[in-house]
Amino acid sequence: MNEKRLHRDASKSRTLRTFADFEERGPEAIMRAVQTEDFPVIKQFVAPVLALAVIGAAHAVDLSDAQRAEIEARIKPVGDVCLQGESCGGAPAAAAAAGGAAAVIDGEGTYNMACMACHATGAGGAPKVGDLAAWEPRIAKGVEALHNSGLNGVAGTSMMAKGGRADLSDEAIIAAVDYMIANSQ
Ligand code: HEC
Repeated sequence: MNEKRLHRDASKSRTLRTFADFEERGPEAIMRAVQTEDFPVIKQFVAPVLALAVIGAAHAVDLSDAQRAEIEARIKPVGDVCLQGESCGGAPAAAAAAGGAAAVIDGEGTYNMACMACHATGAGGAPKVGDLAAWEPRIAKGVEALHNSGLNGVAGTSMMAKGGRADLSDEAIIAAVDYMIANSQ
């Protein structure tokens, strides 16, 4: 092994010298070159490889960010629908309507909130819930008539339309009437 030849080949082509030596004599030639003043040549060969690796890694990160952003953008609308609605395929408006209906179906809750003040105490002559005798003749008029009284009130009495709660939905009032009837017969 002679270092002169290494220098001569290096003057021709540094990369060729490195690969040729590696093929010819194996890693030992490279190690020997590293120990000589040719060491910077090895670094010059390695540096571009490292640079390519870094560039490749940076590119991979960029791609990953882009993919993540794309996935998030794609998932977001679906997630919103799923959060607001019953199912991912449902329209938000329909889901909101379903949620509202679920809230007003609570007849007991509506009664406690809007009707109990009079119908638990009998204030103003209101038939008390649970007073079977007071409710029997009213129930005899039919559920439709009682729903109508709940919605429109009873003229000439303190039973106002919707018990004075015009902000409540018809469904809420009907549910409250049903609750009152169910607990008064
Ligand atoms: C301010 C007091 C008051 C409130 C509040 C009130 N009611 Fe009444 N309600 C009355 C009175 C008084 C009567 C009896 C009217 C009559 O003489 O037939 C009555 C009667 C009724 C009747 C029977 C009507 C009939 O045709 O026999 C229903 C049903 C009824 N109320 C439902 C409701 C519901 C539902 C609510 C709550 C959303 C409510 N009320 C809130 C005072 C009230």
